[in-house]
Amino acid sequence: MITVNTVRDLRAAVAQARREGKRIGFVPTMGNLHSGHAALVTKAAQHVDYVVASIFVNPLQFGPSEDLDKYPRTLPADQHTLNTAGCALLFAPGVDEMYPDGMAVQTRVSVPHLSEGLCGASRPGHFEGVATVVSKLLNMVQPDIAVFGQKDYQQLAVIRAMVRDLNMPVQIIGEPTVRADDGLALSSRNGYLTAEQRATAPVLYAQLSHMAMAIRDGRRDYPQLIAAAREAIVAAGFRMDYLEVRRAHDLQEARAEDRELVLLVAAYLGSTRLIDNLHLNLDDPS
Ligand code: PAJ
Repeated sequence: MITVNTVRDLRAAVAQARREGKRIGFVPTMGNLHSGHAALVTKAAQHVDYVVASIFVNPLQFGPSEDLDKYPRTLPADQHTLNTAGCALLFAPGVDEMYPDGMAVQTRVSVPHLSEGLCGASRPGHFEGVATVVSKLLNMVQPDIAVFGQKDYQQLAVIRAMVRDLNMPVQIIGEPTVRADDGLALSSRNGYLTAEQRATAPVLYAQLSHMAMAIRDGRRDYPQLIAAAREAIVAAGFRMDYLEVRRAHDLQEARAEDRELVLLVAAYLGSTRLIDNLHLNLDDPS
């Protein structure tokens, strides 16, 4: 695997791969990689001949009081992880390479509607920052496919809408969430947790699973299910951000007759914000 830091070197390497007749896959990340990220690279490598990954901690998607400065930067370990997973090229630009004229004058991409509510409500401007950087990266790499995690369900929905609305010639693939043995979704932010908080963290997914089971058993009183799960999550020591039952395809509030649902949660342990979700198709018994 080679690592490049400039758009020019990135384009040259991708152009060479194209000349060799290779199909290109792309996995954008912010680094501090774990086996969830590696699974995206492995997935891409199953579809294409040449996998490009990026590591860029994008200031445009962080709010003023968020963890931009303390976001973990672990480049050598990340290079090892990517290489092992089958990545051919790593693009690791600095902020000046991505935003040479500064962020204030940067053209923005906004995806209305899907960006509102859920994480968009507590992180204003976040999805505009994500959509902007992902569209820049897609234009730089020009991949055939790009792989994203379902762990960030709303982000994946925003990116799918952006690609569709702007007619971007790339296929977006969503990859299931990789979890620790106790159910906790792997996340770079898990590293912020104390041992005690780490022991509490699996409660989020346990409560989503509990709700999913109740819904499979026929419960449709979503407000009551949500209230009970919220109570259990708060009793475990979390501060709630949101817990919602939504329609999987458009993230609108679920009604009793909807068959494909997603349960989404965000909650704080201390100052660490964790998110998770569970996709549920009531027409599919598995
Ligand atoms: P980051 O949080 O580094 O995540 C990069 C990709 O890994 C995203 O597609 C995310 O959904 C996926 N991912 C994270 N944890 C996962 C897990 N446990 N299982 C499966 N996939 C997982 O998401 C971002 O970066 C940024 O917003 C980005 C898209 C790179 C734009 O800056």
